[in-house]
Amino acid sequence: MTTAIDSVELTRVGPGTVMGQLMREYWILALMCSELARGGAPLRLMLLGEKLIAFRDSTGRVGVMDHRCPHRCASLFLGRNEEGGIRCIYHGWKFDVSGKCLDMPNVLRHQDFKHKVKAKAKAYRAVERAGMVWVYMGSRAKAPSLPAFEILDVPDDEVGVSLIQRDCNYLQALEGDIDTSHFGFLHAGHIDPDDLGEDDPIQHTVAIRAPEYHIADTAWGTTYAGYRGAGPGRTSWRFGNFLFPFWTQVPNGEFGRHLQVRGWVPLDDEHTMYCVLWWKRGVSAMTQQAPAFKDGAPIGGMGRRNNFLPNTTDWLGRWRLAANASNDWGMNRAAQHDNMIYSGIDSIHLQDQAVTESMGAILDHTLEHLAPSDQMITRTRRRLLMAARALRDNRALPPGVENVEVFRDARGGYFVSDDRSGWRDAYAEQLAVASRPPPRV
Ligand code: FES
Ligand SMILES: [Fe+2]
Repeated sequence: MTTAIDSVELTRVGPGTVMGQLMREYWILALMCSELARGGAPLRLMLLGEKLIAFRDSTGRVGVMDHRCPHRCASLFLGRNEEGGIRCIYHGWKFDVSGKCLDMPNVLRHQDFKHKVKAKAKAYRAVERAGMVWVYMGSRAKAPSLPAFEILDVPDDEVGVSLIQRDCNYLQALEGDIDTSHFGFLHAGHIDPDDLGEDDPIQHTVAIRAPEYHIADTAWGTTYAGYRGAGPGRTSWRFGNFLFPFWTQVPNGEFGRHLQVRGWVPLDDEHTMYCVLWWKRGVSAMTQQAPAFKDGAPIGGMGRRNNFLPNTTDWLGRWRLAANASNDWGMNRAAQHDNMIYSGIDSIHLQDQAVTESMGAILDHTLEHLAPSDQMITRTRRRLLMAARALRDNRALPPGVENVEVFRDARGGYFVSDDRSGWRDAYAEQLAVASRPPPRV
């Protein structure tokens, strides 16, 4: 059970909160590199409840800093992106990407030196990898390394990236990814297994909609294996992971080639940026085809296309879907009634978006009635809370901050094995023969 105190500590992410402090120990994925043009307009960026700006200076370096100018707090979003830094339009003070004050033109030259030192803008360190800008918002003098996700070993041009904003707290959004039993209902409740081809990857999921589970704490967070019988002597496995502090891996691809991580980056307590990084070469032909029944007819509601509203300059104006709470996520009652689409909502991502946003901006956990099918969720909450409290109470660093290698063996995906293997052996055997990029040095 999640108590009211647990609920608050799990969901609040601003400066000084228990979970906010935990998250600030890690690199946070913030935006696409392509969102910042060299010397171009700064961008408003909300991260962990902090209002920031991001910009790319005239030499190509990325700056991420508090949007308030340290002089009299006018927003640097309005600033002029000039040679080597951003200049506040109020009194002309200029800052480089590290926050150092370069110029203070409204102060007499002989008076400006010590003020310049004091007027450092609050800037965070930023790096670019896999087409994304990552930000370190922690306080350590030496930032940790990026997490050793397998996908970050892949050359940047082989990594696919996508961002989608979700209008709810990060935790309920993330938990959709580790709540495996919803698949057979929300996404596939209208599918009769007899209508699917024999090797269709969702065959086992829809044949047995209440799977059994193994769940465990792992070095990177938590892991589940959902399993079902798959004919004589065979077991169908679906492995998924939670990785500190807000990442998941889900079994929506073949285990052997499914390099992927999905991040649920808290923008503030009530908004989250979903980000996914995947290996383009690892996507199988099967996954790329439009899902179809064995007679060739398309399966309703399994679309992967999402329509976006135009990005705006608002703090929360980036990567929003056109289908949202204001239009009931495009609900089609006829499709729902006729069982063409179980949910009535067309697109897998949108189905997840609708149910998690429909819980309210921050789910009141005291209203839940968790069942045995929710063990992965309860264990993950406990793992997060214990790590966050250990950091707060004992300064114990959470998993994967210094020992970033713990992430490398995390993989999600589906496969069928013979019954002789236990779940951990089955995972290790599949990983041993999986496609893996060599680690970057
Ligand atoms: S407020 Fe920015 S220079 Fe004065
Ligand atoms: Fe889902």
